[in-house]
Amino acid sequence: MRLSGITDRLLKENTMIKILAISGSLRSSSFNTALLRAAIGLAFDNIDILIYDRLGNLPHFNPELDTDNPPAAVKDWRDQLKASGGVLICTPEYAHGVPGVLKNALDWIVSSGEFVNKPTAVISASPSPDGGEKAHASLLQTLRVMTAEIVEESKMLIPGVSAKLNKSGEITDPATAQELQALLNALAQAITIASLQFQS
Ligand SMILES: Cc1cc2nc3c(=O)[nH]c(=O)nc-3n(C[C@H](O)[C@H](O)[C@H](O)COP(=O)(O)O)c2cc1C
Repeated sequence: MRLSGITDRLLKENTMIKILAISGSLRSSSFNTALLRAAIGLAFDNIDILIYDRLGNLPHFNPELDTDNPPAAVKDWRDQLKASGGVLICTPEYAHGVPGVLKNALDWIVSSGEFVNKPTAVISASPSPDGGEKAHASLLQTLRVMTAEIVEESKMLIPGVSAKLNKSGEITDPATAQELQALLNALAQAITIASLQFQS
């Protein structure tokens, strides 16, 4: 599959759209991580989604270590963000908030600025009926403070997620798959537009 419209110009230049995908869960059988893996299968051919799976390796945020020469894991995290055109976050909600491991990772980026103007999509998924809406809202607030470009059409809540994936982590709910594909499309368009603005 191919994107149409404005992205054609970059496609002609054989440009890949690079998305860094981040799960807010460290759980091996995480629904949120499974959704990111499913997104890879739903993405257009010119979209390269890399799942960043080292959030758990990051040290606890300490402003004294928040320098241009940070701990190696932090440098790797910043480099991965720099190399991506956009970011896709999919997170659970813990105790009505953003999981600590994800907030910790974001705190390392506040000063270094890799999220500035970065097209970003935000999904929260939960077995509960509200889809982790409080964590979703809180995460948006943090990303806005960091001046990420929140892509309006790329905000998604997935309630009752446990009934929408099978045991292999594949999406069994067609509406969820469709919505996720539309979200990826909108994020890819935003990345393309940002990249064209940067070129001109
Ligand atoms: C400590 C803890 C707190 C939780 N708090 C919430 C919550 O506030 N809201 C919610 O919707 N789900 C909550 N849950 C349930 C998670 O949404 C559920 O475990 C989910 O599967 C975690 O995401 P994952 O499958 O990607 O690991 C909580 C789970 C744990 C372990």
